[in-house]
Amino acid sequence: MTATPAEPSHGAYLDHAATTPMSPAALEAFVAELAQTGNPSSLHAAGRAARRVVEESREAVAAALGARPSEVIFTAGGTESDNLAIKGLFWGRRTTEPHRRRILVSAVEHHAVLDPAFWMAEHTGAEIVLLPVDVDGRLDLDALRAELAAKGDEVALISVMWANNEVGTIQPVHEVVQIARPYGIPVHSDAVQAVGQVPVDFAESGLDALTLTGHKLGGPMGVGALIAKRGLPLTPVLHGGGQERGVRSGTLDTPAIRSFAVAVTEAVGARAERSEHLASLRDDLVRGVRAAVPDAVLRGPDPLVDPSLRLPGNAHFTFPGSEGDSLLYLLDSAGVQTSTGSACQAGVPQPSHVLLAMGVSEEDARGALRFSLGATSTHDDVARLLDALPQVVARAQAAGLASSARSGPPRTRPAATTGRSA
Ligand SMILES: Cc1ncc(COP(=O)(O)O)c(C=O)c1O
Repeated sequence: MTATPAEPSHGAYLDHAATTPMSPAALEAFVAELAQTGNPSSLHAAGRAARRVVEESREAVAAALGARPSEVIFTAGGTESDNLAIKGLFWGRRTTEPHRRRILVSAVEHHAVLDPAFWMAEHTGAEIVLLPVDVDGRLDLDALRAELAAKGDEVALISVMWANNEVGTIQPVHEVVQIARPYGIPVHSDAVQAVGQVPVDFAESGLDALTLTGHKLGGPMGVGALIAKRGLPLTPVLHGGGQERGVRSGTLDTPAIRSFAVAVTEAVGARAERSEHLASLRDDLVRGVRAAVPDAVLRGPDPLVDPSLRLPGNAHFTFPGSEGDSLLYLLDSAGVQTSTGSACQAGVPQPSHVLLAMGVSEEDARGALRFSLGATSTHDDVARLLDALPQVVARAQAAGLASSARSGPPRTRPAATTGRSA
């Protein structure tokens, strides 16, 4: 059976940070393995064949990321890996050092990190410290230093993402590790958006744990990994057969794991060339948006000033006087798919917690739109956006004016702690 390469259908797809098409090689590996039978935990020939696939995949993922095979724990994706890191490290540490109750996370983490942290606060007596960021969304290292100087011996773990999913800001993860080291605090980083876009080397980073997921780099949905140093105290979140180091239970998804390994190898191998292409497209997009809509405000580090501070495939703007949702739907009708970066809660669009942490007002944060590029992105995608944008913004602004005339001054909404973003 031949697998057909995944094409981003429906016009210009500018939402690769939400999910990106499977690469032809990953899709082919996935389909080929689906035709096989065998539980990697079974002892007979079919089981041993599946086990071989899993272990070769583990080696491939480790090699691509500067890790040892024994450090790779396969999971069902980024959310599970983040949960395992936050809960597992907290509980693991508590056994020997119960006074370490503080969890330090940056204020701009994905909800897959923030929500388990807040859940731990509600249910296990953890104390959450949200580390502040600057106007570009970059972690304030002085605030981290001050926090550790004051209460470093009470900290169970630190989690700071490698790169932000909304505004693309790359975080100073190496510095965080250096600052944490004297206090003996394990550091986790959610590298879901970073792998395949910027160099990620686990050993070189000095991190204790790192999250990645398949569907952001050309692999399937529902598979990922937590890379975790051997000997790291990690209490399981899922209990059962103990398939992965006794830390993660569940029958291993051999087809997804094989396909994931193919995608990771490919994405990391093609990274340098691909990033250059993405950055050049992205820079055209940024220049084009500024020319088409002069009052649009770029959020996150300006890539035309210093490209090293931002993911090559990410651009993010706020459009004054417009609702992000209106922009999204109008662009969608014009065949251009984008994201507001944050999503609804009970049908009500919430201003992004990332933008609020960067000091953007609620009013301005409502007009947010993220454009994210991937391996299949082309100049035509960008051209199609730039063609549609001026009219779309004019219509969204007119709709915004009409609705504020109906409803009076803008209401203040509570800060988004439960909005969801991809
Ligand atoms: C930064 C970040 N972390 C975690 C996740 C969750 O990953 P998954 O969709 O594999 O559960 C995402 C996906 O939206 C993400 O962007």
